[in-house]
Amino acid sequence: MAAKDRPLFKDKEVKETHFKPLLVFTKHPLYIFIFFFSWFLFLFYWLPARTNVISSTVAHKKNGQNSMMKRTCDLGAHVYMYELPEKFNSGLLRDCRSLSVYTDMCPHVKNRGLGRPLPEMGSPSWYATHQFIAEMIFHARVENHPCRTWDPAGAQLFYVPFYGGLHVSSHFREPDLSVRDRLAVELAEYLSQQPTWQAHQGGDHFLSLGRTAWDFMRSNDGPDFGANTLLKLPRLRNMSVLTVERNPWHGSNQFGIPYASYFHPSMWNEMLTWQNKMRESPRPHLFTFVGATRTGVEKAEVRNAIVKQCAQSTRCRPLQCARGASECHDPDRVLSVMSRSSFCMQPPGDSFTRRSVFDSVLAGCIPVFFSPHTAYTQYRWYLPADRGEYSVYLEEEKWGRIEAELLKIPAEKVAGMRATVIDMIPRITYAHPNASDVGFKDAVDVALEQLLKRVRPRLVEKI
Ligand SMILES: *[C@@H]1O[C@H](CO)[C@@H](O)[C@H](O)[C@H]1NC(C)=O
Ligand SMILES: *[C@@H]1O[C@H](CO)[C@@H](O)[C@H](O)[C@H]1NC(C)=O
Repeated sequence: MAAKDRPLFKDKEVKETHFKPLLVFTKHPLYIFIFFFSWFLFLFYWLPARTNVISSTVAHKKNGQNSMMKRTCDLGAHVYMYELPEKFNSGLLRDCRSLSVYTDMCPHVKNRGLGRPLPEMGSPSWYATHQFIAEMIFHARVENHPCRTWDPAGAQLFYVPFYGGLHVSSHFREPDLSVRDRLAVELAEYLSQQPTWQAHQGGDHFLSLGRTAWDFMRSNDGPDFGANTLLKLPRLRNMSVLTVERNPWHGSNQFGIPYASYFHPSMWNEMLTWQNKMRESPRPHLFTFVGATRTGVEKAEVRNAIVKQCAQSTRCRPLQCARGASECHDPDRVLSVMSRSSFCMQPPGDSFTRRSVFDSVLAGCIPVFFSPHTAYTQYRWYLPADRGEYSVYLEEEKWGRIEAELLKIPAEKVAGMRATVIDMIPRITYAHPNASDVGFKDAVDVALEQLLKRVRPRLVEKI
């Protein structure tokens, strides 16, 4: 076992030193009495003080209500997180200016990927989180998760905290393909040398990526969009890959996870307050489209139809996203428009999925889809099985009459869908990674639960 993977905390040793002396006591009743009496005194005088120390060091405790709550792992399993060589994650952040060929990522990788705080939203739980940063937040959450173990022998899931999305976007314009692929190849090499990997050929391992699977599945035919071959490496085939957009046709080991939105609460009551606010929000607009038209992308043609109809309708509130500084990049603006609309248009763009889908759920705005691959084939772990419960699907023949189609839906049906959407918010949210006990299942908790369901039967098979 490599030195870096050796457990820091050895459960077994701790247990032995605690329980051996007890055997001696059982033969001497007086000793037993003295032992338990002193134990009682110890509990009485020492523990409350300890508890205070612990709870005061835990971040984001706002009231005494939760100060006695313990962090417990209710997954029924433990997750081991690799301490990867830093070139695979934190080392990449050092050169944060070149992490994306499009934008300076330095402000976005701050606060473990949450980005710049948004105090104007009225609580410390809001951040201007970048759309392709879920892998960093996921890492920070697992690092501080109550189900994390330092002992690989006690783990059922193995997390590989590789910042693959940030790496690939820093190499989009790299013409030398072997340079572009190098880090992915090195990761596969590193993993396959680990005994923890070899035990099940990576079948109990997972990776989470903040960019779409297309960025890691370069094909030799067709134009080069800058992708590498991470997800095509034969050695990584048995690993589960969490990604904000899976390949619906060649992604049987890929699982959709939410794009990160702007809300990262530390406590259940913050979540409840927000959900109630969205339930009560007046919605004067029937629909809205927060986005821009695309030129030359065939699957984005529907955007032109939406923009045109929105401009012609008095019931639509457009929020144009022209290049550069525009109000659609202001989270406060985006959420306030969405939270005043009943339906949010979610056409495909450069790829099938959009972060906007998760912004609209957060705002209690019912998403309207134009492709099954924008959500239905992506986020099965997160969305209700019956798509009609929380969304509207418009087939191509209806794209010319969006308003008329939406007006056909009875008011009670709309209210029911909205209630379902608002109930979905906790699951699609990335809670604050420093939260000690969030009190609800967030996107990371749901992913761990579902991964375990997938991995467990495979491990049992092997025994
Ligand atoms: C989490 O807490 C640590 C220690 O208090 C602090 O240094 C860090 O900035 C916090 N992280 C975030 C994302 O707020
Ligand atoms: C995937 O797992 C199966 C069964 O555990 C194993 O036989 C196979 O060699 C693994 N494939 C790779 C590429 O590791």
